[in-house]
Amino acid sequence: EESKLDLISRCIRPFPDFPSEGILFRDICPIMKSPAALTAVIDLFEQHVLECHPVVDLIVGIDARGFLFGPLLAQRLGVGFVMVRKKGKLPGPTVSVAYTLEYGTAEAEVQEDSVSPGQKVILIDDLLATGGTLFAACELMKKLRAEVLGCLVVVSLKDLSGADKLKPHTVFPLIQFC
Ligand code: PRP
Ligand code: HPA
Repeated sequence: EESKLDLISRCIRPFPDFPSEGILFRDICPIMKSPAALTAVIDLFEQHVLECHPVVDLIVGIDARGFLFGPLLAQRLGVGFVMVRKKGKLPGPTVSVAYTLEYGTAEAEVQEDSVSPGQKVILIDDLLATGGTLFAACELMKKLRAEVLGCLVVVSLKDLSGADKLKPHTVFPLIQFC
């Protein structure tokens, strides 16, 4: 689907030295401003899931930009959406895990009752860099004994080898940069 990918690519802007020196930040905000580009993102994710993971129980989105795409995809697929949040935001019993990312450290958290043992989940975020964030989310799913079918991202930064860190889990990126 060349044209959908073209449409999405044209909505990703590079910002050098953000949020710190040496980071080339890929900004996805223009995707959110373009109904056609946002629809193209969800179309391509939906197509991939229907082809590769025909049985899915839940879409699990990562704080904060995974929340932009996750609920739209979940609604398309007719399944529920679960939030993996930065620590301290979710009420009730939770499980958490600390992690490092391209430009810092953080702690991810999910409600204990958000996923039942054996449920099949797909993780979604806007971007894969070092893989620290999605790896932490996979750890959380492991603690809840969920089955991770795979991870979806709009953008993958290939040179940071995030996909290697996530093995044996697979990553489906729409767009790759070096
Ligand atoms: C960014 C991005 C991913 C993560 C990728 O989120 O949205 O979640 O970093 O980096 P990694 O692969 O090296 O872990 P960030 O933590 O900046 O938070 P935000 O979505 O709240 O802005
Ligand atoms: N863009 C957006 N989010 C990110 C990036 C980036 O280049 N690197 C790590 N998180």
